[in-house]
Amino acid sequence: MNCTTRVVVVNPSKFEDEELREAAELLRAGKLVAFPTETVYGLGANALDSDAVSGIFLAKGRPQDNPLIVHISEYEMLERLTDRVPDSAAALARRFWPGPLTLVLRRRPGAVPDNVTAGLPSVAVRLPAHPIARRMIALAGVPVAAPSANVSGRPSPTLAKHVLDDLRGRVPLVVDGGACTFGVESTVVDVECPAAGGRPIVLRPGGVTLEQLREVVPEMSVYSRLVHGDAAAEKPATPGLKYRHYAPRAPVVLFDPHGRGTSPSSGLAAAFAARVTPGTGVIRTHAGPDRWPYDTPGGVVVREIGDERTDPAAVERNLFDALRSLDDSGVTAIIVEGVGENGEGLAIMNRLRKAAAETVDASSL
Ligand code: TXA
Ligand code: MG
Repeated sequence: MNCTTRVVVVNPSKFEDEELREAAELLRAGKLVAFPTETVYGLGANALDSDAVSGIFLAKGRPQDNPLIVHISEYEMLERLTDRVPDSAAALARRFWPGPLTLVLRRRPGAVPDNVTAGLPSVAVRLPAHPIARRMIALAGVPVAAPSANVSGRPSPTLAKHVLDDLRGRVPLVVDGGACTFGVESTVVDVECPAAGGRPIVLRPGGVTLEQLREVVPEMSVYSRLVHGDAAAEKPATPGLKYRHYAPRAPVVLFDPHGRGTSPSSGLAAAFAARVTPGTGVIRTHAGPDRWPYDTPGGVVVREIGDERTDPAAVERNLFDALRSLDDSGVTAIIVEGVGENGEGLAIMNRLRKAAAETVDASSL
């Protein structure tokens, strides 16, 4: 697995095919390539080559039973992967592709090796909007299986630097296309989810919001233990639901105010303030005079990543970098102002809950 990692810097708004030639050739030769997408960086391999796909699991330390998303460059590539695209899935693709939406479809037998889908009868497919990702896949001429390009369990990478921090020496090439615009992963949707009685379900909230999905499929709901009971914990609809994720080394303490823009109750604010001690890091998601009330004594590292009320997309975009950079600064704990769970807030809180060692809300005081 040890190799030299080369970095090629490519400007996403102006590049020549030549700059992606090496990436495409490595993919065709069964090697791994890390590349930018509009969500997060991916760790790609030829999705038709089971040995290449094994290399992804090895490099990330990813559990074998967590299936991968297959990335395509044109809608037509979908026809090689599935025999049937339900009407609602086609409607979602028309509205959100290319973009941060992954569709789980019934897999055409033999279309991809078993390790891509962890043996499931379904296959997850995404047509990314990022010009580098799309062109690289087109030049490779094969669908590209790619999870996020982080070591399993760590926050996903939104900069090439994050990829190198995790995977230097484990991937021969990193295409550096700058910062990812969404900063959280794609929304994963199964419009005929067997574990949800065939209903359309969001398996993972992400770049496309629930509100946007409902403009196309009004009956869309979100898979959660709250909706489906504890059975969901034992037999999750997506294997990705059962692993701890996005966790930096320092423990994350998430304060959940319930509701967008809600000022925390005085009890919750006091509990928060008590945790902000020298040596800790704080992630602020509220700006302005009515921000969460607490003092930051010396020795506290503060990251202001946006205001959830006026610019939730900034909170989303900066979140993983804030978790990683606070970790790198050596803080003992990362205390986070939670956000409301509508719009982008659903994906933000989903990632934060998975990253959190402890979640505090008014009911836990
Ligand atoms: O934005 C993204 O989706 C990024 C970029 C690189 O495209 N990729 C990404 O991949 O986040 P990964 O492997 O980190 O997450 C894929 C998610 C996991 O939760 C996995 O369980 C789920 O998709 N998944 C993949 N195939 C599935 C399937 N056949 N059925 C249900 N869930 C599936
Ligand atoms: Mg991932």
